[in-house]
Amino acid sequence: MALLPSQPIGVFDSGIGGLTVAHAIRQLLPFESMIYFGDTAHLPYGDKSEAAIQAYSVKIADILVRKGCKVIVIACNSASSAAYELLTEYVRKDIHIINVIDPMVDLVLQQFPGKRVGLIGTKRTVQSDVYSRKINEGKKGIHLHSLATPLLAPMIEEGFFNNQISHEIIAQYLSDESLKDIDALILACTHYPLIKNEIRSLYDDKVTILDSSEVIAKALKQHLEDERLLSDLYSSPVDHFLVSDYTDSFEASARMFFHQAVHLERHSLWN
Ligand code: DGL
Repeated sequence: MALLPSQPIGVFDSGIGGLTVAHAIRQLLPFESMIYFGDTAHLPYGDKSEAAIQAYSVKIADILVRKGCKVIVIACNSASSAAYELLTEYVRKDIHIINVIDPMVDLVLQQFPGKRVGLIGTKRTVQSDVYSRKINEGKKGIHLHSLATPLLAPMIEEGFFNNQISHEIIAQYLSDESLKDIDALILACTHYPLIKNEIRSLYDDKVTILDSSEVIAKALKQHLEDERLLSDLYSSPVDHFLVSDYTDSFEASARMFFHQAVHLERHSLWN
């Protein structure tokens, strides 16, 4: 069945961190409706096996397809590294999938040939080695140095950023030998835009901090333009924020990541 510009954009993440990507999409594409799915019942994905993340991602894609999304954005590095290939096979005939990794890899290949680039993310993302593999395939002589920083996502979710505790934890991670003398740092976790300024100031503005939320919103816009699926100007967007488990604290954190109040609706992953 042909897709229509009026259909919503589907966005999903392990929880609420992907709302940083949803926010960037809202800024860049103000007339698009969005259905966001946060798998709060199963977060964090960063510590899960590839098989578990694949199983959850397939269920979420089913929900977003059934709700009539015209494209699906995987707003999670851990899910992008574990389940993107599988999902493209799974929903290929229906709709296009955009992951959070490829647009960032393209940008790094263009802007940092021959440079030392650092990366911080969850254990799942770092262990998958997907960024190094894709960057090496680009053959631009880029040296990628990845470090798993598992404390950062829960720290940010608890509202610990821009304070002394977050400063010390971030500084401790960034002082790791592997991140010495880098020219740029990829924030390979969708929670991290909230600590972007802290990271930048720890590097005294000498390292370029690469935040995938804006990059992925641009890639999405390009896709919608290419496929003539951009929503009509002046259409009034309707957003839905679904979560597989609801708590008041998720709703409070959601406001932090989306920069405005968000009403979370509970939606089971299994029906
Ligand atoms: N937002 C997820 C990511 O980008 C990290 C949080 C988690 O571990 O679920 O990888």
